[in-house]
Amino acid sequence: MQAVVLVGGFGTRLRPLTNTRPKQMLPIVNRPMVEHVVGHLVRHGVSRVVLALGYRPDAFVDAYPDGRCGGVPLHYAVEPEPLDTAGAIRFAARDAGVEGRFVVVNGDVLTDLDLGRVLALHDERGAEATITLHRVTDPSRYGVVPTDTTGRVEAFVEKPPPGEAPTDLINAGTYVLEPSVLDRIAGGRRVSIEREVFPAMVADHTLYAIDGETYWIDTGTPAEYVQAQVDLLDGTRGCALTGVHRTADVDPRADVELSAVGAGVVVGPGARVTRSVLLPGATIGAGAVVDGSIVGEGADVARGAHLSEHCVVGDGGVVPRDARLAGARVERAPEGVRGG
Ligand code: GTP
Repeated sequence: MQAVVLVGGFGTRLRPLTNTRPKQMLPIVNRPMVEHVVGHLVRHGVSRVVLALGYRPDAFVDAYPDGRCGGVPLHYAVEPEPLDTAGAIRFAARDAGVEGRFVVVNGDVLTDLDLGRVLALHDERGAEATITLHRVTDPSRYGVVPTDTTGRVEAFVEKPPPGEAPTDLINAGTYVLEPSVLDRIAGGRRVSIEREVFPAMVADHTLYAIDGETYWIDTGTPAEYVQAQVDLLDGTRGCALTGVHRTADVDPRADVELSAVGAGVVVGPGARVTRSVLLPGATIGAGAVVDGSIVGEGADVARGAHLSEHCVVGDGGVVPRDARLAGARVERAPEGVRGG
């Protein structure tokens, strides 16, 4: 079975971290996000992965120069211009010569979905496409998918106003598609699968959905990018992972809790790092506090500084001594500036 993994978006909500790399090459507990996504697919029987690339494709080619990831071959499909979700699926599937039914996943979703169950139901129902769903408390920023008792999709409602959603089941970004879906997608222009293709299939009664009933997170915002890692560190998804890289230098007087600490990171005495992500080579000064925040590669949080509420410090960024930042985005510092 083949899978198309969408990894070509700009990842604007995670800027400035995504100024220099695609979102899916950001680490999730010290391993690129794309490896978690591909690993899950491989565990469920996927034997070839097509990466639908657009923004900064070289990052993937450089990371997997032998064209393999998670033990399976990769096909790199690089769009000449951003084609949006459906346009990207069509381009990538055709570029890779995909035949028969195939799986599509958003490359920024982490889930424990039982793909075999989805495939079995897709076949049983004779669906043209099957969408997986996830139940959320506030569906207003997602695509909401009401179904009838047979699982047939009745509507596809993009981002309903708060309180007006017909269901709390949202599009979870994993699809099983028959090849005929590709013929529904116009070539050479941007086409959204959620706004154009799925609504047309609803009208034709060929679109089905299934509640994944399992762990699911979209890592696209700073808060969720951090939460996806906390969930792997606190045992929410089974055996808890170790978050501190073996080459990190954490002072014994520092306190690091439920955080992913990358290679070569230095955490000074008295520093406190909680529910945060420190990318390789970051430095956290003595007595600094990093809570629920992300510190980019080689960035410098100076002594006594205080970061909270999903601050994002870009690669090489500098947070000055004793600064207090909440929910801030810090870009790379000018050459030669260090925090002290
Ligand atoms: P934001 O800019 O923060 O919204 O992030 P994004 O660009 O990743 O957009 P979004 O999260 O909506 O995209 C969902 C998935 O589709 C992600 O895995 C993206 O990488 C991917 N994606 C979005 N647009 C395109 C595109 O035009 N081409 C390709 N190949 N992938 C895309």
